Amino acid sequence: MTEPKPSLSRRDLLALGAAGAAAAALPRLARGGEAAREVRLTAARGRARLVGPDYGETDIWCYGGTVPGPLLRLRQGERLRARVTNRLKQPTTVHWHGIRLPNAMDGVPQLTQPPIAPGGDFTYEFDLPDAGTYWYHPHERGNEQVARGLAGALIVEESEPIRVDREAVWVLDDWRLDRDARIVEDFDNFRDIGHAGRIGNTVTLNGELPENFALRAGERIRLRLINVANARVFGLRFEGHRPRIIALDGQPVTPHDVPEDGLVLGPAMRADLILDAEGAPGQVSRVIDGFYRDRDYRLIDLAYTSEPPLRDHPLDAPLALAPNTMPEPDLKTAGRHDIVLEGGMMSRLRGALMDGERVGVRDMMRLGKAWSVNGVAATGHAMTPILTLERGRSYVLTLHNHTPWQHPMHLHGHSFRVISRNGRPTAHREWLDTVFLDRDESAEIAFVADNPGDWLFHCHVLEHMQGGMMSVIRVT
Ligand code: C2O
Ligand code: CU
Ligand code: CU
Repeated sequence: MTEPKPSLSRRDLLALGAAGAAAAALPRLARGGEAAREVRLTAARGRARLVGPDYGETDIWCYGGTVPGPLLRLRQGERLRARVTNRLKQPTTVHWHGIRLPNAMDGVPQLTQPPIAPGGDFTYEFDLPDAGTYWYHPHERGNEQVARGLAGALIVEESEPIRVDREAVWVLDDWRLDRDARIVEDFDNFRDIGHAGRIGNTVTLNGELPENFALRAGERIRLRLINVANARVFGLRFEGHRPRIIALDGQPVTPHDVPEDGLVLGPAMRADLILDAEGAPGQVSRVIDGFYRDRDYRLIDLAYTSEPPLRDHPLDAPLALAPNTMPEPDLKTAGRHDIVLEGGMMSRLRGALMDGERVGVRDMMRLGKAWSVNGVAATGHAMTPILTLERGRSYVLTLHNHTPWQHPMHLHGHSFRVISRNGRPTAHREWLDTVFLDRDESAEIAFVADNPGDWLFHCHVLEHMQGGMMSVIRVT
């Protein structure tokens, strides 16, 4: 019923340069002896031309009048002070996805703060301990508010960046639009909750449908990819190119090639790629999203300008980023726990605990719930923790996806190493904040529980989260 392929017409030609995402002015202010970078973010209704000149503008909700919201770019070790004003008609919060910040700044309604009422505001202020590619989005009615356009990129630059000629940020989003390019407002549709989530019909890159990404032969580009879609998974192949992955979810990883069958980027996941423009002037190569079987489509063309190559050979400079500041988990002394995910259509879920009571699957569905984490279906953000972890201790959590569906599982307040999948050690022991679990897959994640507070652990398919796939892990 929904086609993953963008079904509306594309714009003729749009060269997408660094201007693709608007840079916010970030004046540096010194207060109380410490420098904080101040930004103002207003969440409000807006309009955006998502699908080109043949269609009208789409009514959206957004930060700062643009979709995606203002690109926030700071330096590692800086402090961000973001004053958020809510001009929406419903409460909201801002969550800073992937940032290891104090619990009170995490932006989870009821759990870490009262939601920001319509007309109200809230100031978030926190340090940025780690460099990387992050993003911000609401956590109140996330399935609706993110689908309507509330999301933006947060880039934290390394104090010693690697050498590239240019950097670009691609915020990938997915919209469910009708024939007049209006957002279809069926946000709590149970079909989406029980299946793969709200997969739309129009994929945008930095809020538009660009035909081309212009590049010059010989240049080295750092591409920061961010999937802000509610539910769509991307599987990107760069025809005629050999991009290297240098960071995942903002965290440095041993540089390695994008797999043959594509770079899988589930909701909320990020990847930093190094793209050497090894094609010839005038060349056009496609970037294909082929995640869903038989639904391949061209996301964008890499379009070489006619300029002579910038250099004859790819830049010979190191690709590896300096490590971030997460403590290394000690696997020998680590506490171990299992987390079991169940539910979804075509599963054998019989029921779950809801607000402390046993509820059968039929009643769950009537209440819009389809999923459980360790036997509990979430009804709101303020929950009894499924685990209480000792502050400063290492933990290995084994995640078991006992469902016939895929889930990008996200932990707030920490990054974790993925040390094995289905019992086999991972090649890169990558640090992530969102781990993509395939159907029936299991994965072991390891981290030091060094950040005190109540932290959400949930599926980032926002309809699955809405449908109960959410829990709280306490660190005391
Ligand atoms: Cu993007 Cu609860 O997170
Ligand atoms: Cu998060
Ligand atoms: Cu899920």
